[in-house]
Amino acid sequence: MRHSQHDADPDARINWRIIKHLIPYLLESRYRVLLALVCLVLAKGAILTIPFLLKHLVDALDGAEVAQLAPAMLLGLVLAYGGARFANVFFGELRDTIFGRVTERAMRRIGLQVFRHVHALDLEYHLGRRTGGLARDIERGTTGISFLMRFFVFNIAPTLFEITMVVGILLFNYGPDFAVITLVAVVSYGLFSLRATEWRTQFVREMNAADSASNTRAVDSLLNFETVKYFTNEAFEAQRYDKELARWEMARRKNRLSLFGLNGGQALIIAVSQTAMIGLAAWQVKNGDITLGDFILINQFMIQLFLPLGFLGFVFREIKGSMANIENLFELMAIKPAVVDRTNAQALTLREGAIGFHNVSFGYDPERQILDRVNLDIGPGEKVAVVGPSGSGKSTLVKLLFRFYDPDSGCITIDGQDIAGLTQASLRRAIGIVPQDTVLFNDSIFENVRYGNPDASDEDVAEAIRLAHLDAFIASLPRGQDTLVGERGLKLSGGEKQRVSIARTILKRPPIMVFDEATSSLDSHSEQAILRALQEISRGHTSLVIAHRLSTVVDADRIVVLSGGRIVESGNHEQLLQQQGSYAALWQAQQKQQQSTL
Ligand SMILES: Nc1ncnc2c1ncn2[C@@H]1O[C@H](COP(=O)(O)OP(=O)(O)O)[C@@H](O)[C@H]1O
Ligand SMILES: [Mg+2]
Repeated sequence: MRHSQHDADPDARINWRIIKHLIPYLLESRYRVLLALVCLVLAKGAILTIPFLLKHLVDALDGAEVAQLAPAMLLGLVLAYGGARFANVFFGELRDTIFGRVTERAMRRIGLQVFRHVHALDLEYHLGRRTGGLARDIERGTTGISFLMRFFVFNIAPTLFEITMVVGILLFNYGPDFAVITLVAVVSYGLFSLRATEWRTQFVREMNAADSASNTRAVDSLLNFETVKYFTNEAFEAQRYDKELARWEMARRKNRLSLFGLNGGQALIIAVSQTAMIGLAAWQVKNGDITLGDFILINQFMIQLFLPLGFLGFVFREIKGSMANIENLFELMAIKPAVVDRTNAQALTLREGAIGFHNVSFGYDPERQILDRVNLDIGPGEKVAVVGPSGSGKSTLVKLLFRFYDPDSGCITIDGQDIAGLTQASLRRAIGIVPQDTVLFNDSIFENVRYGNPDASDEDVAEAIRLAHLDAFIASLPRGQDTLVGERGLKLSGGEKQRVSIARTILKRPPIMVFDEATSSLDSHSEQAILRALQEISRGHTSLVIAHRLSTVVDADRIVVLSGGRIVESGNHEQLLQQQGSYAALWQAQQKQQQSTL
């Protein structure tokens, strides 16, 4: 298909494009970031003094003059040690607290950006999307971004800084031996982690893909709950879900095993170098080259150094994982909507609301044409009906009018303006629709009606409900207009949903109205009532009515018959009957059917 979601380059390295993308979010709160960095420096400064304080304490206590040691001096050292410990933790916490706002703000911004982007994508994308997997990708991506920001600013750079400092201190105070061991340890640790993590990324990706797939399967299955029951396919569904879960389990296992290899290798490097350092220091103490205090200092530095280094391995691993997650998100962001506003798109200037289809040909798939050079003019205030067999392309006409798709050839105009050159928002604002299948938000009936115009007052909404003949139904509900309609409106019957949809459109009061089999789910009695209401509200408005039951469109100014994507007949009811064509045949068939059911 046009949109693929999981074909990232499996060997991607640290992706600087992603990092670059995050910089604006850091700059946006630059003072906060700076303050956090100051806290970071204070915390690091505090921890670097600890080994020295320990050394002085040990040397003071170890020497021959320990008896003459001034208590004030001892107390001072002990307090300084405590203070440094506290400052280290305190400034670390303060840093996280201050920086938290930056990541939260960025997550919010990015979350919103993704949401807007997904809404801007074309209908074709949404018909093919997998909701469960998409939600997972977005969630993992935004979390990944927050993680990446935090650790890039606070771990990679500061840890490198700390390593340099420690190597410098060791070199300056104790000669090259310790510094060289430290350096070799750090470099081999770093190289090993890098290679191993790179190798592991494929397992992380596999795991994420499996995670999204199983989530997609679960959500899709739950959305089809009723169908599953009707066909008693619970076991089949469970089995399909379990197949995805098994894939996920397998991917997790590979991931875990590779993590074991990574952690094991890292631990080995650390252990070997620590042994070397301790050994060398012990030897030097024995030879009288350094004091016991120095031994403590070296040991302490080593612990302090390898702790963040071990952590760096974890961070690097997580960063790679986050990168894989963010990549999915960015791929999503990179999908270009098939229908976009032109750079010089104009807002629609509505005069009378005349609609024109000029030689419009269209197919969802290039292999299969749905509409074939359709010409249709709907004059201002005119009511034109389109009838024809199911699948002949009636709803497709409406989708093209809303510009959910662009025609393959020909054009559609409103008041002489080609809709391809208009902003989509201004176009869609001008048209109201009662669609064939209405889907509702999981909210109250009242709020679902208000959706037609979120600014409408309660009185206006009540009026629309009355006009759409929803009031009697609402009165019969124990919770009245506050009744929740269930996910996608599944707690309402087809006819009730259609009436909510009609009320919405009444509230929107658009200049152009489209009814796509708007009363198809209603019984004849309610249909007549609603048709009268629709007639009232569409009076003076240009309207396009798609109907299956011909009795609902006899009053149309013009009726066109669509068949096989072409307009085969056109005229008003009387004219079409006289033509004795397919319309007349259909009319007679429906009349007969109606008589037999009466
Ligand atoms: N998004 C789509 N992708 C591919 N084919 C589609 C899509 N939507 C509709 N179709 C096909 O286009 C044809 C016309 O559909 P439609 O306009 O909905 O018919 P109707 O006249 O019943 O409203 C149908 O055969 C349908 O299967
Ligand atoms: Mg249809």
